[in-house]
Formats: sequence, structure tokens, C-alpha cells
Amino acid sequence: MKLLITKGHIVDPSQGIDGIGNILIEDGKIKEVRIEPGEQRAKSKERKSEVRKSGSEIIDASGLAVFPGLVDMHVHLREPGFEYKETISTGTRAAIKGGFTTVCCMPNTNPVNDHASVTEFIIRKAKQEGHCTVYPIGAITKGQKGEELAEIGTMKNEGCIAFSDDGQPVMNSMIMRRALEYSKAFNVPVISHCEDLTLSEGGVINEGLISVTRGLRGIPAEAEMIMVFRDILLAELTGGKIHIAHVSAEGSVDLIRYAKKKGMQVTAETCPHYFSITEESVETYDANAKVNPPLRTKRDVDAIRRGLQDDTIDVIATDHAPHHMDEKLREFDQAPSGISGLETALGLSLRLVDEGVLTLKQLVEKMALNPSRILGIQKGTLTAGSDADIVIVDMKKRYKVSAEKFASKGKNTPFEGWELRGLPIFTFSKGKMYEW
Ligand code: DOR
Repeated sequence: MKLLITKGHIVDPSQGIDGIGNILIEDGKIKEVRIEPGEQRAKSKERKSEVRKSGSEIIDASGLAVFPGLVDMHVHLREPGFEYKETISTGTRAAIKGGFTTVCCMPNTNPVNDHASVTEFIIRKAKQEGHCTVYPIGAITKGQKGEELAEIGTMKNEGCIAFSDDGQPVMNSMIMRRALEYSKAFNVPVISHCEDLTLSEGGVINEGLISVTRGLRGIPAEAEMIMVFRDILLAELTGGKIHIAHVSAEGSVDLIRYAKKKGMQVTAETCPHYFSITEESVETYDANAKVNPPLRTKRDVDAIRRGLQDDTIDVIATDHAPHHMDEKLREFDQAPSGISGLETALGLSLRLVDEGVLTLKQLVEKMALNPSRILGIQKGTLTAGSDADIVIVDMKKRYKVSAEKFASKGKNTPFEGWELRGLPIFTFSKGKMYEW
């Protein structure tokens, strides 16, 4: 099977490509990427944004952007155990619709992915029913209880590509130290959910004026910062690989920037909601904006944008956390935290390009190349021989976010009705074409 994508504006930072060209796909792999000399991006902008297909072999991508399939290193697929919220099938369909061809799923399922048998189940299910590549992330501790290390080695052998207790922090510093020692021995990153539970306990939104006026228990930014710095120090002590999940606070960005300047080994991610909206979104007790860590202040949002701009923050991940509508309709205190993020991430991130915060190259780095490098997977690139994971985006297409139309079962979004720009119209997962 051969397929040719022609005249698209290809952006592939892994090969320093940013120009108009063609991509040849053969048997699910990228065979060749050829950039037309002299064809510059400015020229392509003038072209009409439309797709003409001739037969099934040629896709005319004139006027469209072509990126490596996006890689989301932080999603909750909810299977096994919470299939009423999401399944591997619906979650990966949402991924494809959002332009992602690889997702890494967090272990807070039921049972928790703290054992090779659960890892094996997820991999098998993903092969049978998934629409894109799925890599499981194993739990650091048994049952994510923070007490006893899980069998990291056997889970890695089964296919886990990173370890995290996401949803929960590892409060015990000695256990985190040991986890990082294992991570070094097995050359896998530990992804840290940074939250000092003794400070955040009972909190449901950011601690500040709004938590006071709305009578809700607050979570101070320090609950995150303390753990960010602890984990950077432990990574330094052990030589392990630490990746800080869902950075929400200015102070955390400062600490990560400081550590990187000092040459410490740390990588970090943030999510679209932390650079797009503030705690004001929960003023009306809208549980769709309840997330952990909580949405914070304009000052934090600005700091996160600066952190993305100067590459202190390496990755944009979604923390796709689908929940059932009935759960989100509970009173604010009782509603679960999380945002269904796979189908709005690209549009929200492209706003950063529009606003001059990121270049398109940086966006592709943070949404495809960097997560792949951190995880040591052969994804996020269009190099010949790689899986044909590609997204073709109509950058001019404006659309309104409508949760009802999400492929995800999770309709919990605070971005309902937002007008965004940049819609994936073709996604190729290992050469298999999905068209929207
Ligand atoms: O808001 C969140 N939801 N934060 C987490 O860390 C976990 C996630 C979930 O699993 O729902």
C-alpha cells in the first residue's frame, strides 16, 4: 500500500524541516520526505485551505500543515475498571480526532496498573480496539498507595514506558528515592504528580481570594512547589530521570528553570488549561473547571507561558481526564477533578502560536518530539522508516468547541463554546487514515 501526501507545509523539528513538500508512505511506514526547494511557507499561506483527493493514493495537502502525529504522554483511558467514563476504544478515537497518534495512559485504573498482568491487558486491548498507539505507564507503588514499590522491572519488560502514581503523589521521600534509583537502573522516567497532601488535604480550588469568597477549601501553590523541588533534589541525588507532571504554578516554573540552569536532569509538562484559563473559571462553581492541580491566577498563567517560551517546560500534555456527567454534576466539593482534553489541546495550543508565545516548530516539539525523546520511543518524527503517524491540519479552519461532538465519553470541558483555530482533518496512525 502506497500513499503520497503532496504539497503540504511540513514541520518536523526532528529533521529541521519547515517547508513545502511531499511525504511518501508505504506499508504503514514513512518511506520518504521530500522538501521542494524554493517553496517557502509564506507562499503556502496564500493557498486555499481545501483538500482534494484523487483516488485513495494521493492526498493533496496544499495550504495545509503536516506534522508528525502528536504524542500525549499523559492521558487517562480509564480501562480497566471505569469504562463508564472512557474506554481504550473511545479514548484513542478522541486522540486521533485531536491529532494524536500516540498516547500514554496513567495507571489509576481499577485494578491499578501496578502489575504486569494489568499492563498486558491494556496492551492487548489497545491492539484489538485502539485507534492509535498506546503505551501504558505503570504505578510507582502498589495500589498507588505510596507505601510499597510496585514491580517496576517486570512491568517495564511487559511494556510500561514510564512510572507514575499520577492522581496521587508519592509522599514518602524514601520511596520516591528508591523509585528514582530503579528508574535509573531500568532507564525509564518517573513522572511525578507533585502535591504535598498535608497542605492540599480537603482543598478543591486554588488558595486565594476566590477560595475565600466562594467558601471552598484552597490548595496553595506551595503544595506543588515543595514536591517539585523535593523530586528535583532526589533525581540529583540518585541520577534518576524525573519528569514533572501538569505544572500549574509560577513557583514551580521558577524552580524547574533554576534546576535546569544548574544542569540538573529534569523535564516538565504543562497542560492547555494551565495556560488558557484561571481560577476565575470556577467562580460559578462549574465543576468542569475543577482539576487537580487547580487552575490558578493570571500571574501563574503568564509564568507558564514564559516557561513554555524559554523551553523550561518541555511538553504540552493533555492530562485527558474524562468523567461521567453525573459525577461532574455533583456539588463542587464532591465532583471529581479532571478535564477531557484530547479534542481541544491542539486548538488551545495553537493560540500560543497566534499570540507569539511559541513558534510552530516549538509547538510540534512540545506536542510530539520532546515527549517521545523523554520516553525513549520512536515517535514524534517523520524520518524515513518510522511509523506513518502523521496529522494534517487545516490551520485556517475555525470551529466552536462542542463537547457533544467529542469522540471521548468525557464531555467535561470548561472550553465549551470557545472558538478555536486549527483542525486536524486527516490523521494517519501507522499508515491507517482517519478523515474528519
Ligand atoms: O484532575 C485530575 N484528574 N488530576 C489528576 O491528577 C488525576 C485526574 C483523574 O484521574 O481524574
